[in-house]
Amino acid sequence: MRQHVNPLSQFFQLPLSLPSKNVLFRNSDHPIHLDIGSAKGEFLIELATKYPDWNFVGLEIREPLVSLCEKKRRELELNNLKFLFCNVNVSLDEWLSDFDYGQLKRVSIQFPDPWFKRKHFKRRVLRTNLLNSIAQYMCNDGEIFIQSDIFKLFEYMTSTIDKTRYFKRKDLGDLKSLDCNPYNVQTDRELFSLKKNLPIYRAMYIRNSLLFVR
Ligand SMILES: C[S@@+](CC[C@H](N)C(=O)[O-])C[C@H]1O[C@@H](n2cnc3c(N)ncnc32)[C@H](O)[C@@H]1O
Repeated sequence: MRQHVNPLSQFFQLPLSLPSKNVLFRNSDHPIHLDIGSAKGEFLIELATKYPDWNFVGLEIREPLVSLCEKKRRELELNNLKFLFCNVNVSLDEWLSDFDYGQLKRVSIQFPDPWFKRKHFKRRVLRTNLLNSIAQYMCNDGEIFIQSDIFKLFEYMTSTIDKTRYFKRKDLGDLKSLDCNPYNVQTDRELFSLKKNLPIYRAMYIRNSLLFVR
């Protein structure tokens, strides 16, 4: 399997129409947790098993990974979970417009960018347009959870979110960063970083109920 793909290449710039939430889930009115860059999917598989009253969607640009995740999901008969292939920076906005207002309750963006160097800036996942789309369809008090083991990238993510003003960083008092994953389930990259004793920077943002997206 290819390690990484270039999201800016022509193929990945083609918008895909993703299936409607009504055909994705047995209980399509349950709250939705979206994991952007779901990779091998273990994080969502564990959450979907623990929380049957939520629906979970993993979005991933590497199609073979999505096929593998879907195979695992079917074997486990998880009807509240779906993995979809897309470039989120191209296809997410259109897909979210199918949601009922407020149904999107959680978004996680965890260790998102394999390309953290400055020269790869344009490939980054977390961008203002993406945040505007999320803000438009997320319920008041909905949350965005981010984490990274690269401080520069974490700083870029927090400053990009702060600039939109649609989200408020959760106040942690003196603590600058959350000391563990609030969902109590670790992603693959998180487990790798913990094992290697790498620092992990985390933040939780809450949708600012006072600001509407124009
Ligand atoms: C470093 S991995 C981290 C995976 C997982 N979140 C974790 O913490 O273990 C980042 C993932 O984001 C995916 N990704 C990168 N750009 C993307 C995009 N524009 N749309 C969807 N997925 C993307 C990559 O293919 C990769 O699987």
